[in-house]
Amino acid sequence: MRTTRILGGLLLLAVVGAGGFAALAWRSELDPIKPPERSAFPPERIAQGAKLASLGYCAQCHTAAGGKPFAGGYPLKTPFGTIYGTNITPDPETGIGTWSEEAFARSMGEGVDREGHHLYPGFPYDHFTRISADDNRALYAYLMTREPVRAEAPANELPWPLQFRPLLAGWKLLFLDQGAFKDDPARSAEWNRGAYLAEGVAHCGACHTPRNLLGARETDRKFAGGESEGWHAPALNEASTAPVPWDQDSLYAYLRKGVSEDHALAAGPMAPVIRNLSSVPDEDIRAMATYIADGMGERRPAPPAGAVPAGNGAATVYAGACATCHEPGGPLQFAAPVDLAKATSIAQPDPRNVIQAIMGGVMTPDAAAAPLMPGFAHILTDKQFAELTAYLRTRFSGQPAWTDIEGHVARIRSETGSAGGSSTRIAKGE
Ligand code: HEC
Ligand code: HEC
Ligand code: HEC
Repeated sequence: MRTTRILGGLLLLAVVGAGGFAALAWRSELDPIKPPERSAFPPERIAQGAKLASLGYCAQCHTAAGGKPFAGGYPLKTPFGTIYGTNITPDPETGIGTWSEEAFARSMGEGVDREGHHLYPGFPYDHFTRISADDNRALYAYLMTREPVRAEAPANELPWPLQFRPLLAGWKLLFLDQGAFKDDPARSAEWNRGAYLAEGVAHCGACHTPRNLLGARETDRKFAGGESEGWHAPALNEASTAPVPWDQDSLYAYLRKGVSEDHALAAGPMAPVIRNLSSVPDEDIRAMATYIADGMGERRPAPPAGAVPAGNGAATVYAGACATCHEPGGPLQFAAPVDLAKATSIAQPDPRNVIQAIMGGVMTPDAAAAPLMPGFAHILTDKQFAELTAYLRTRFSGQPAWTDIEGHVARIRSETGSAGGSSTRIAKGE
């Protein structure tokens, strides 16, 4: 079923690509330059670029595990195949050392490399196109003053015909809404700043907005909940099912410290987002919180939790393995977990984040100390995981029962290995 849908999507892409090909497949090469000296860039501009690179977590997708920063090789897994983040250090042969400022700005705004090839939208230029000319100049200054590293990114692993880059011209024709962010004069300066950052360089919608079969964001369902690397990225609009509605202050706490006591702790792919935001000034975090809170709109109250039938086997597992930490008055007071009745993960339309947390555990930011919560991958069977997950849903949330919990458990176990993916980390608290 899924395969046929994707194949259908590919066919459509091929047809549109053929049309788009004529219109804009061909992009000119921009002349190579000699890599500029560091002294060519004022220090304030480099510092501004450093802040923007944190907001855009450029290092996340452009650094391989254990590799040099920005030297590429990070495997970005998409439903279509694996695309590797490229080397964006100023190395003239394998990086962007010969790229002019114009070539860099064109790649951010239009998704085209210096030589004129179309780039895959795994590089979130559908968001970066909103970045201002000034901020692109700062990002360029920052990247061109990093240590040049000679490193070739591995070839992308994509099925035929997707390796054929001119097809992307068709994709862009359909889905790329090009152009820098424009202020909404009816809104406050803070709202506009937040919108500029969240929609642009910080690309929150890359994970939190659902995508269609061709991998494009469904712009009419902005922030309605999407996904990232086997996790559900919850809705950040009126569709949010968080038991306690989010507001500006709780969003600020979550984005700043990685935890909001009335909601959740940032785990999975949200943890590196928070870590990267740690060097971003308070007022920018506050501005994003203002913008996102505004979009949350009016919420219906959460339904009351249901009753668990007596004799439920999962209740015994919960009492033995979880209650010491998760029930009030438990002996373990070293870290206060979020009250599970308020935990957003249990109220979400999708059980993946709960399973991920229980399987992989929850780690401290540097993973040096003992985990805040141990992973149960080796302790519970798949059946126990499924029953426990269903139990948590019924006991702590009034939302409808989850379907296919067993399928999710099996997939997460195979994707993260039997060790249960202990990469689940939390961001630095304060
Ligand atoms: C979600 C992952 C992701 C993030 C975040 C990301 N990139 Fe990339 N980027 C990619 C991928 C993947 C490619 C390669 C695309 C391709 O091969 O078509 C790429 C390509 C590029 C290129 C083109 C390089 C070349 O050699 O063709 C530039 C420039 C670039 N990124 C800059 C940035 C900057 C600056 C940021 C931060 C503001 C950033 N990227 C953040 C994934 C990402
Ligand atoms: C790489 C993908 C990704 C990006 C980019 C991303 N998020 Fe998330 N976000 C997630 C995932 C996955 C979760 C669920 C984490 C969990 O369950 O602990 C999440 C959780 C959240 C939550 C908690 C919601 C709830 O109800 O539990 C908020 C708020 C949030 N993100 C805001 C943002 C904002 C604002 C941005 C942009 C600055 C952003 N996210 C960028 C993946 C992402
Ligand atoms: C050693 C103490 C400890 C034990 C034992 C423990 N937890 Fe946790 N748990 C935590 C802490 C601390 C967190 C992180 C804060 C938070 O998210 O609530 C957490 C997080 C969670 C979350 C994520 C909540 C969210 O959305 O942020 C879930 C779900 C969860 N635990 C369920 C369980 C289950 C089920 C068990 C038993 C199989 C269990 N925990 C055992 C301490 C513990």
